Amino acid sequence: MTVEALPTPVRAGFPADFVWGAATAAYQIEGAAALDGRTASIWDTFSRTPGAVRNGDTGDIAADQYHRYREDVALMAELGLGAYRFSLSWPRVRPGGRGPANRAGLDFYDRLVDELLAHGIAPVATLYHWDLPQELEDRGGWTDRDTAHRFAEYAAIAAEALGDRIGTWTTLNEPWCSAFLGYGSGVHAPGRTDPVAALTAHHHLLLAHGLGTAALRSALPAGAEVSLTLNLAAVRPLSDAPADLDAARRIDGLANRIFLDPVFHGRYPADVLADTRELTDWSFVRDGDLAEISRPIDSLGINYYTPTVVGADDPAAPAPRQDGHAGALSPWPADRGVRFLPAEGSRTAMGWPVDADGLYELLTRLRDDLPGVPLLVTENGAAYEDYTDPSGAVHDPERVAYLHGHLAAVRRAVTDGAPVRGYFLWSLLDNFEWAYGYSKRFGIVHVDFASQRRTPKDSARWYARVIRAGDLPG
Ligand code: FCB
Repeated sequence: MTVEALPTPVRAGFPADFVWGAATAAYQIEGAAALDGRTASIWDTFSRTPGAVRNGDTGDIAADQYHRYREDVALMAELGLGAYRFSLSWPRVRPGGRGPANRAGLDFYDRLVDELLAHGIAPVATLYHWDLPQELEDRGGWTDRDTAHRFAEYAAIAAEALGDRIGTWTTLNEPWCSAFLGYGSGVHAPGRTDPVAALTAHHHLLLAHGLGTAALRSALPAGAEVSLTLNLAAVRPLSDAPADLDAARRIDGLANRIFLDPVFHGRYPADVLADTRELTDWSFVRDGDLAEISRPIDSLGINYYTPTVVGADDPAAPAPRQDGHAGALSPWPADRGVRFLPAEGSRTAMGWPVDADGLYELLTRLRDDLPGVPLLVTENGAAYEDYTDPSGAVHDPERVAYLHGHLAAVRRAVTDGAPVRGYFLWSLLDNFEWAYGYSKRFGIVHVDFASQRRTPKDSARWYARVIRAGDLPG
């Protein structure tokens, strides 16, 4: 073997400065929906729409973190978390989405951030985790270009108030869900079902990301980082047959490249424009938008739960769409000719197949496609049918196995050169799981919603040991 042929030595495992975190989102945990000046978001309205959310659950009280943040931060400190990813509620910070900031709302985040810092936990703030002020939806929501400008103003308000203490800011969480589940299949707020509205909303969300990035940069101190979190899909073709490969290309376009190309290369993918041409001419994209959208960011956040297996539609064997998203209508604009199949493997309580290789595939793809862009796993976790046993304990071995497998995939990706800087487990607490209400528990801390009692599950203790060791056991 010549010297050149020797493999480059790599340092295996998680780097010493790897960020170990957990994540939540405002509407899913805060409660206090009508307190201290907060107005309604689209989720307050949607959750009151008959049939929209299981059991008619709402986020009115949720896990009541608004009042229990001290207890929650103490729990985080016990677990040894290095960072906490949470979101700010737009209608709490700027009720109605326009007009003056709400001091009482900002005060809550002041208290939370100070509490985190006092415990040595880095706050990582997301500006938009799906709770658009209802008044903005009434004016067209994300189909109205103006909403992107209102978002940038809100970003500036938040950064001015909290930028001295929050080092990492994420503009949007999973804009795919906001656009395609919110305006396409209608299973998320605001519940609209129009593929053209979904594509229009998609563009305006990206515009909001770009304008918001600019607003954050001008209000934040030097060194603060700006990021975007995407639920990219690990797309797998059913076979190597050309029709299956083309179905995979189409869905890779609508799940991944429709975000990555504009944000990192300042253009929409030609094949996605062609695939959707029957719906829209994309005239909602104006001159200068793509330059705005492609402003440099400091890292990319990835949320990953399960892979996406697609093949060419088989009219002889029609099958239900199994893309992990509920609802009769497809969220995918222009997915004609595509069928979604389940991956192999055991399933979580969401029915999502467990497949950690998908996370490895995504992280190493991004290593190759976006050289030099630091990555964060901003969500990963699983719902299972947890219960408190008579001794008061919650044993959740499936969740531990899920987390172990996925963290091993992250470690393997890091070893293979993917620049992954941190991992945020979804979720710290059981919470309001959107259209599933409180029926799905993703927390490593169990919440009894009647008493608001918190009980760390076995997975919480397991994660604490991983954090302490800086590595997986075994
Ligand atoms: C993601 C959301 C998060 C949570 C998990 C299970 O799509 O960002 O709020 O609901 O799924």
